[in-house]
Amino acid sequence: MTETPFTPSDEQTPPRRLFIKTYGCQMNVYDSERMADVLRPLGYATTDTAEDADFVILNTCHIREKAAEKVYSELGRLRELKDARARNSTTATGTSRTSMIIAVAGCVAQAEGEEIMRRQPAVDIVVGPQAYHQLPELLTRMARARGERIGADFAPVDKFDALTFEKIGARSVNGPTAFLTVQEGCDKFCSFCVVPYTRGAEWSRPVAAVLAEARQLADKGVREITLLGQNVNAYDGEEADGKPSTLARLAHALAEIPGLSRIRYTTSHPNDMSDDLIAAHGELEALMPWLHLPVQSGSDRILRAMNRKHGRQKYFDLIDRVRAARPDIALSGDFIVGFPGETDADFEQTMDLVRRVGYASAFSFMYSPRPGTPAASLGSQVPAAVARERLHALQALLWAQQTAFNAAMAGHTMDVLFEKTGRNGAQAIGRSPWLQSVHVEDADHLIGRIVTVEIEHGRQNSLKGRLLHDGATPFKQRDQLIGA
Ligand code: SAH
Ligand code: SF4
Ligand code: F3S
Repeated sequence: MTETPFTPSDEQTPPRRLFIKTYGCQMNVYDSERMADVLRPLGYATTDTAEDADFVILNTCHIREKAAEKVYSELGRLRELKDARARNSTTATGTSRTSMIIAVAGCVAQAEGEEIMRRQPAVDIVVGPQAYHQLPELLTRMARARGERIGADFAPVDKFDALTFEKIGARSVNGPTAFLTVQEGCDKFCSFCVVPYTRGAEWSRPVAAVLAEARQLADKGVREITLLGQNVNAYDGEEADGKPSTLARLAHALAEIPGLSRIRYTTSHPNDMSDDLIAAHGELEALMPWLHLPVQSGSDRILRAMNRKHGRQKYFDLIDRVRAARPDIALSGDFIVGFPGETDADFEQTMDLVRRVGYASAFSFMYSPRPGTPAASLGSQVPAAVARERLHALQALLWAQQTAFNAAMAGHTMDVLFEKTGRNGAQAIGRSPWLQSVHVEDADHLIGRIVTVEIEHGRQNSLKGRLLHDGATPFKQRDQLIGA
């Protein structure tokens, strides 16, 4: 970069403050952290509210209509804030912030950047998910002209190259857990989904780059890493010899890094659940006994219409094999109800699949037609009231399973990684191997450590534990907890 970065006009109120609001999936959470890293060398420190910020970035999600619409309403609110500031600046109060830069990043920016610029003139910058490393340069250009839309091309390799330690310094860490994006994009083209259009084709970071970032994180006290990708188990990043790796091989290499005790990955597609990855669950202590494996529907007919490219039996077989490799593994999933053409009988197949599998947690959504996707133009849309009723029934079943799973932990011991202090200060909140939130009193001195905890009881959304334990047995088996 040859030009001097843009300088806000109110130089009397340094440091510059950055507020990033993140919508959508964990990949956006990772991207938001990296945007903060890219902007830190320009003097931007992060803050918790837009009211306090010179620069506001909305990192957006396009997956469902509601997610995209939230962005426009938030932009309306920001515009008022920006206008009020411009008015105040003419009265020159001296200390208050007098300007605000607004950027829209992420998947809505990618999908409808021009519309954002048209609908909301207060927006200064639109930047897609593969181009945010260019934010410093965009700020410079913005000083000259508003209204550029940057980032319509997909070249994650440039982005990750620009985000290396050598170029921007160490990435910031936020406690003992961290996300690490290893794979981007999707080639699956499920008929309902915008991701292949917003994030582009599947691409994996080279093994060496992933290991370097992981070592950096471990050096800063990170004990648990969650590997991210839209199809993370399709990971095929280049090894040192130029040959493609696999997620299982990557997990084995990561497990060798001193200090890194826990590895997770998300999100996986059933068709990429390879033999070596299943085996890794039995071989690697560090690979946590937790698998998020979305199936979307339990009906073969609907799975075909969704272009998921597998049927329900294949899913059952996979679950059996994963459980054989790691008996205490807990399952999580994503479901869509009300996909075009879904009948009561199709929906019953989904309920049946959920009963048979038994989930420790899951996300479920009403189908939302997305512009440009094949399913949006199907004639047989399900009435909203019917879809809502199905969603309620499915969620009641999933919540009952989750509550039963958590309740069954009572009286057992487990390792908990303490992440942060709880409400009263002395309480600490950590994560179980099964991603449950665990609350323990008088444990605030243990933040950042993995400690054995005895579970007193489990509720729908969390477990309560204590440090002292006396003869409790480790939770090892699924114990016929759920389903039935
Ligand atoms: N790559 C992951 C999913 C990423 S999107 C996978 O294949 O499973 C996260 C979830 O959002 C999806 O699993 C799906 O359940 C939901 N989703 C995606 N598009 C949707 C739509 N148009 N309407 C409702 N839910 C949707
Ligand atoms: Fe979307 Fe399907 Fe790709 Fe998942 S696999 S991101 S649901 S297209
Ligand atoms: Fe949303 Fe984009 Fe993630 S559409 S779910 S933020 S990949």
